This record gives sequence, structure tokens and C-alpha cells, in this order.
Amino acid sequence: MNALAAQLVPNSKREELLATPGFGDIFTDHMVTMRWTADVGWHDPQVGPLAAMPMHPATMALHYGQTIFEGMKAFWRPNGQRALFRAKDHARRFNNSARRMAMPTLPAEDFVAAVEALVRVDGAWVPPTRGHSLYLRPFMIASQTGLGLRPAEEYLFSVIGTPSRPASLEPKAMRLWAAPEYIRAAPGGTGAAKCGGNYGGSFIVQREAAANNCDEVVWLDARERRYVEEAGGCNLFFVESTSDGPRLRTPPLSGTLLAGITRNSILRLAQSLGYPVSEKPITLDEWEQSCRDGRITETFACGTARSIVPVGHVVSAHQDWPVGDGTAGPVTSQLHQTMLDIHHGQAVDDFGWMRLIRTEDPTE
Ligand code: PLP
Ligand code: COI
Repeated sequence: MNALAAQLVPNSKREELLATPGFGDIFTDHMVTMRWTADVGWHDPQVGPLAAMPMHPATMALHYGQTIFEGMKAFWRPNGQRALFRAKDHARRFNNSARRMAMPTLPAEDFVAAVEALVRVDGAWVPPTRGHSLYLRPFMIASQTGLGLRPAEEYLFSVIGTPSRPASLEPKAMRLWAAPEYIRAAPGGTGAAKCGGNYGGSFIVQREAAANNCDEVVWLDARERRYVEEAGGCNLFFVESTSDGPRLRTPPLSGTLLAGITRNSILRLAQSLGYPVSEKPITLDEWEQSCRDGRITETFACGTARSIVPVGHVVSAHQDWPVGDGTAGPVTSQLHQTMLDIHHGQAVDDFGWMRLIRTEDPTE
């Protein structure tokens, strides 16, 4: 991959920024770009300075929404190494999104190489703090100029990075807002793809959630408006109490929710810790009733950006109930800490999820 030198943020400034990262408001020094055209395929991979992208006003992505993205993380390890979490699985999902949006797929090894190239050159931007990470945003847009209503024949793939701190480092449990008059995805639609429109269409409800003192939306199924699908930007897990101990339950991948990589990791990790798991539909009413009668003792949301966050309350125009005592329960905390141990190389990575990256950190 060609590399162009960037004007680096000075070490002292970067360290100051890394001490208190937020999410998605500061960016690393570089970006990766690669182009696709129908005649040549993928070409011109570059690692260059982070820069604005000039665009013709008729760029197709702006009009017809052919935009997809991934969200993945690189973590700092106590020995100074950096490691990416489940990079190939993100590549696979990126290509599923591309197929659904009639966009070109990118060989998984090229996707991973592009992300690795950014972490290598911007390794100094991986925050050296447990729970913090460098969030990587690979994305692809239809870059062709034209207003014809058809899939574009030119695309731009890029990877940018932003140091991030998950909300879950703060003890506050989330309040979720259920608004049955809105849906995120319907059968046959794009719910299982990570495409821009899924998010743009959700903001009106996110705003409603905030107006009702809630942190996120909980989405219900499109047909019956009863079944819990996922929350905004994350999947949901329920901890059920049984005479044999706790077990985990999560809604099945119906085609209308995102197949979260954290969700899949938790299903596997929980089993390895001895918790039975099931992928079984649950209605909003069952969730409420089970919290009230103690059959559900914990609920948590999980996703790359958010990590693992307890759900403390569920609120709608007609209902409002606490989950457990409204704070993180023991199963949620155990899974969160075990996942962090794996991310930061403090537990054996039995699943082969972490990919070590040799970086060009100027501070080393
Ligand atoms: N659901 C939606 C709609 C998301 O945007 C995300 C975030 O990527 C998730 C679930 C969680 O997926 P993952 O764990 O792969 O980040
Ligand atoms: C992620 O967790 O990576 C997401 O994509 C959620 C949100 C920031 C869009």
C-alpha cells in the first residue's frame, strides 16, 4: 500500500487528547483509501494524511444512500502491543452489507490489511487505558457522479480511526425508550446490513428517547410491534433466573436486526463460562412481566462502540419498569470484565479473536 506522510499531531497534544477520549470527535493522523471501478475493480490503495474528500454535488452516495460501514476496535495491551478484535468477522459482515446494497465486495484479506495499515501507522493513537480503544471506521460510498437511478459503477473505500471511551466505563445503567409507532427494519429490508439509511431513519426516535430522559431506543418487530429486536447501535441480552442458575437469552437473527459481533462473542463466551444460552424471541410484555416477577434479573446491551452496558429501566408511553435493581448485575459485570481481559491480553484468547499488530509508534 502506498503511504504518504501526514503532518502528525504533536506527541504532547495527542497524549492530552487520549487522556479523555469521547467518541467520534477526534481523529488520527492518517486515513486509508481505495477505489473501485467497474472496469478495473479495486485499485489505488493509499495510506495518506487524514483529509477532506472533495465531492461533486451529484455524487451518487449523497442521493441514493449507497453507503455502508463497519465499526471495530484496536486495543492496547500491557506489553505495549496493539491488537484488533475479530477483524475477519467484520470483513465478512462488511461484504454482507455490500451485497445487500448492490455494492462491490472487498476480499477479506484486503479489508483486514487496510485496517491494519491504519493501526500500524497510527498505533500511537490507541489509548493506553483499560476499556479505551481506537475505534476504526471502515466505510464505502458510491463515489460516481450521476443522478441515474441504478447502482453506481464507482466506489470509494476508506478507513478512519477515532480514540474512544465506551459509555460503559461509567456505572450508569441505560434507560431504553420503546416507541411502537416506529420501526427500524421490516422483513426483506436492509435491517441486517450496516448501511447509513438504517441510522438516519432512527434519529427521530432517538430524539424522542432523549426527550423522555432515555439513552437509547429499543426496536420492536415491524409485523406485530411486540417482539424486541435490538437497541439503537447494540444488541440485547436477558439474564434469566432458573433453579439451575442464570442463563442468557437474546432475540434470534430474524433478518431485521444486525448480527452483532459482540452478540456472537457473548454467546460463545457465556457458554465457555458455563451459562446456557438461547436465541429465542421475547415480547416487550414478557420482558416487563419477567422483570416484575424476578424471572429476568438483568438485561444488557452490547456492541462495539458501547461495549457491554447494563439496562436499568425500560420506558414507553404506557409502561415503565426497572430491570433488577436498576444497576449492573453480576452476570453483566462478569461478561464485561472477561471481555475486557480478552481485549487487553489479560486473559487467554481461547477463541482466536485478537490479531496482534506491529505498529510505528513514534513514542516507543
Ligand atoms: N445493532 C446495530 C444496529 C448496530 O449498529 C450495532 C453496532 O455495530 C450492533 C447492533 C452491535 O454490533 P457489533 O457488536 O458488531 O458492534
Ligand atoms: C458500533 O458499535 O460500531 C456502531 O456502529 C454503533 C454506532 C456508533 C453506529
